[in-house]
Amino acid sequence: MPTVMFTNEEKKVMVRQGESILQAAIKARVGLAHKCGGKGSCTTCKVTIQPDSLHKISAPSHFEQRLISEKQLQEGIRLGCQSRILQDIEVQLPEDPLKAIIRAQLEKQRKGIDDF
Ligand code: FES
Repeated sequence: MPTVMFTNEEKKVMVRQGESILQAAIKARVGLAHKCGGKGSCTTCKVTIQPDSLHKISAPSHFEQRLISEKQLQEGIRLGCQSRILQDIEVQLPEDPLKAIIRAQLEKQRKGIDDF
């Protein structure tokens, strides 16, 4: 059984081959939005697949080919609900918007201290 490592949450979960990254995220209890319920239409489940893991998931579905640019696909951006896990992979989840704001503020403060 393959495993999925959610790198920014430092959580690893075992899945059945062919399960989606969204199913793995739910199983691992990590936050991954999925407004359309996994139908491939909302793009809220976008994740970044680590370069070493790109060949270990299913090829982009027609939904992904329609909703994600070729450049983003090459960079490892995929829809969690459409990407099927074939082997052990590492995935980066999107940053929570509130956490992103807090991180930006802390970096700004830290920069201010460094400039002092
Ligand atoms: S959950 Fe909507 S596109 Fe994946």
